[in-house]
Amino acid sequence: LKLTPFKNEPFTDFSLPENKKAYEDALAKVRATLGRTYPLVIGGKRMETKETIASTNPAKHSEVVGYTAKATKEDAEYALEVAWKAWEDWKTWSMDARARILVKAAAILRRRKHEFSALMSLEAGKSWAEADADTAEAIDFLEYYARQSMKYAVPGETHDFPHEENRLHHIPIGVGVSISPWNFPFAIFTGMLAAPIVVGNCVIAKPAEDTGVIAAWVVDVMLEAGLPEGVLAFLPGLGEEVGDYLVKHPKTRFVTFTGSRQVGLMINENAAKVQPGQKWLKRVVLEMGGKDALIVDETADLDEAATAAVQSAFGFAGQKCSAMSRLIVVDEVHDALIEKVVEKTKALKVGSGEENANVTPLVNAESFEKVARYIEIGKTEGKLLAGGNVDNSVGHFVEPTIFDDVEPGAKVSQDEIFGPVVAVIRAKNFDEALKIANGTEYGLTGGVFTKKRERIERARTEFEVGNLYINRKITGALVGVQPFGGFNMSGTDSKAGGPNYLEYFLQLKTVAERY
Ligand code: NAD
Ligand code: ALA
Repeated sequence: LKLTPFKNEPFTDFSLPENKKAYEDALAKVRATLGRTYPLVIGGKRMETKETIASTNPAKHSEVVGYTAKATKEDAEYALEVAWKAWEDWKTWSMDARARILVKAAAILRRRKHEFSALMSLEAGKSWAEADADTAEAIDFLEYYARQSMKYAVPGETHDFPHEENRLHHIPIGVGVSISPWNFPFAIFTGMLAAPIVVGNCVIAKPAEDTGVIAAWVVDVMLEAGLPEGVLAFLPGLGEEVGDYLVKHPKTRFVTFTGSRQVGLMINENAAKVQPGQKWLKRVVLEMGGKDALIVDETADLDEAATAAVQSAFGFAGQKCSAMSRLIVVDEVHDALIEKVVEKTKALKVGSGEENANVTPLVNAESFEKVARYIEIGKTEGKLLAGGNVDNSVGHFVEPTIFDDVEPGAKVSQDEIFGPVVAVIRAKNFDEALKIANGTEYGLTGGVFTKKRERIERARTEFEVGNLYINRKITGALVGVQPFGGFNMSGTDSKAGGPNYLEYFLQLKTVAERY
């Protein structure tokens, strides 16, 4: 397939009146769709279920964005059967033909990008820029994986051997389940289905309960782009029911999961247990949580560091696996930096995604209660410098909150809170700061603000994270530019949006013919 070189989808400049108007129009268009029901899709057929799952606006409990079907174990069983049948044909398609479908889907999405973003403002509570970035990333995954798949259309490299033809073939592995989170409900859902599909596998997509509507929209676009019936099943349902059933099923060939450490570890264990009738070891790709730290030393540009800290901590209300939840500051500049960080934090406006506030609501009641609980714990573990108030009377709102002088081993320094809560930790010097940064079981993102070359070099090798950022914010990895994934309890470091990601969904076959 002949394609132009990969380029990231540009972000929208909302300071331009025409873009602002386009987004407002999209919000109105999406509002007109609220309350619809989205059925299961299996083998291209839409199937209603007895029960449904309501997806509500996190900024307004009373507003239902839509209802998705709630799949049962019988539906999951049927989806597997249909997908394996579809695979017989799909695996024979050329890489070109499969990649074309991704490029076509990207083109459809590009035309309707503000509609998809506006839906996320309502369903996930994203501010305009956060939603726009999520949409851009979804388009990027489609374009990037389409191009990456070309590498596997031709045999892999082997050395010549006299009187033999030796070939290394990449072949798809079968039918798997993709279990995704709500926090990047468009990009991660899309990337996790597009990657296995483009290299010839079939996918049963199980979206997060809180963001089933955007997932249903994505599935519609994939079908509109020409994906054959049966290659992709849409199976919204409860994780502990239908997700768990699919993970344990002997006919499941691979599981690709993004979500919490707790669920990821359970999936790892369940998928490892060989079930009666199972013929393979399941491939498992796990992307899990983080307790991400930014180190600021005495040589850093404090204005830039403060801006980066606030962006990294409070973008999408800290509900990113990449979000900064620990700010580790060298004692000498602690007071000067924290004064700037607190000032910038206090200027942030809490409100809905639709009104484009800076700090938007938490996704659901469970998250709200968890974060509120950690704020109370924080009050006993550190000095409250900003925020601390929560209000769920209308939506799940939490003020951006900063605790100072927290011990590195405190609960708010160790547990993934997944909300707008930062623990500030003092370090005597850079050495101690690096040690504190590495002192969690996670290893997803991390950052350093320093002007000292030798410290940058030390961080490159000693900071145990999958994504390290130097003198910039620690969120917002770009597809193809910063392949994304973490060390240790942050997951299998599979690097979504990276050049080797598709290999998780391929097996290699060496064929030698003597003549
Ligand atoms: P979650 O673990 O609660 O849910 C994720 C998915 O797993 C959902 O679809 C859910 O229905 C499903 N699930 C739940 N229980 C299951 C079970 N027993 N068996 C099978 N599936 C089950 O996570 P979440 O709250 O949706 O997302 C937030 C978490 O995701 C955070 O921890 C965040 O750090 C992490 N995350 C990681 C990355 C990354 O790339 N590393 C990216 C985004 C989010
Ligand atoms: N990929 C997302 C980021 O880098 C999670 O912020």
